[in-house]
Amino acid sequence: MPLPMPDATDRLLAEAAARFGTPAYVYFTDAVEERLALLRATFGRWFALSYAMKCNPNPALLTWLEPRVELIDVSSGGEFQLACAAGWAPARASFTGPAKQDAELEAAIGGGIGELVIENVREAKAASRIAGERGVVQDVLIRLAPARVPKGFGDHMAGRPSPFGIDVETAGEEIPAILGLPHLRVIGLHIYSGTQCLKPEAICENWQIFMDVFRDICTAHDLVPQKLVFGSGLGIPYHAGDAGLDLPAVAAGIGPALDAFRAEPRFADARLILELGRYLVGEAGYFVTRVVSVKSSRGSRIAICDGGMNAHLAASGHFGMVLRRNYVMHRVGGGEGAEKVDISGPLCTSIDKLASGVTLPPLAEGDLIAVHASGAYGPTASPLHFISHPTPREVMATGGQLTDATRIWPHLNT
Ligand SMILES: Cc1ncc(COP(=O)(O)O)c(C=O)c1O
Repeated sequence: MPLPMPDATDRLLAEAAARFGTPAYVYFTDAVEERLALLRATFGRWFALSYAMKCNPNPALLTWLEPRVELIDVSSGGEFQLACAAGWAPARASFTGPAKQDAELEAAIGGGIGELVIENVREAKAASRIAGERGVVQDVLIRLAPARVPKGFGDHMAGRPSPFGIDVETAGEEIPAILGLPHLRVIGLHIYSGTQCLKPEAICENWQIFMDVFRDICTAHDLVPQKLVFGSGLGIPYHAGDAGLDLPAVAAGIGPALDAFRAEPRFADARLILELGRYLVGEAGYFVTRVVSVKSSRGSRIAICDGGMNAHLAASGHFGMVLRRNYVMHRVGGGEGAEKVDISGPLCTSIDKLASGVTLPPLAEGDLIAVHASGAYGPTASPLHFISHPTPREVMATGGQLTDATRIWPHLNT
């Protein structure tokens, strides 16, 4: 029987591998466009969007996103430089991160960043001193860590001892210390307390916690905020059997509370911002790795590929996953039949595994495997230099056209 025709996605993945080499990440901007449309249609009446570039700081992607997303969140001096170089006006950037150094604060304040997201009093004092030396007053948001994060998030940044933000329990002492600094202007609050949630009711509960915290803090310190940042927590399906998040269910669950919140005089003029990373770009990306060798070993089939954990740490299960589970993946071009196979990478360590016992068409040398949901926390969240294999290529696919968007060289295959 003839093989089924590869679909359009597979044709582009195969073309990207042939033209640019493997391993490779391919980012489909049409899929990001669709995501944006869904977010606008569902949440546009409440929220502006802020792209958390830590999830994918690829310069070509940043430039593509610049006219499409209102704001950007950077988490280091390096990310601020990348965002500015990609065309983002500094005033559209906020700067989160629990260990901001003086040099980063100087570059951010001197570079005209929109807001620093203040995570502790030490940082606030340093920022005020640096702003004072430059004769400016710097806008800031204060990051708060709520006492509770509902069940259902893949990672928690609050609700337990945490390096991030100011615990609500001690905010009564710490916020006045920030408000009293002469060269900072507190224009709002920020919470990012949980990521990777697929349960609408948990997201609604979390955002309700945010609104309660915002109300309590603003009332206690008589703040009338211009900006309130909601760290979204919107998750994406990575594994077989994961159901995608029901976004309209989130809107239906929390919409009335958001309306009521905005009707309170204190918040009537506040701009609400949804900060998010993976939900925007994660599902738009594929990681393509090529089978170098296939073997049978003590009853298991093993396909050994040119990119593994070194190029895609998250898919190997070592990026904040408690139990390792296979990402969804397929053989590019499909194929007849099915067999269980382990997918490993080129490293000399047994933890370099992209799948255990995944069912795929029988694999052969030269085949391409596409790992789904790879558009976020890819190359820059991976130990790229371990054992000095080629770094992955990055490719943008826009309207069926492929362009090389590789950021991190050397890619030694070419
Ligand atoms: C402060 C902050 N903002 C945004 C994000 C982005 O999270 P996600 O990619 O899950 O949307 C994170 C994730 O760790 C974060 O810590």
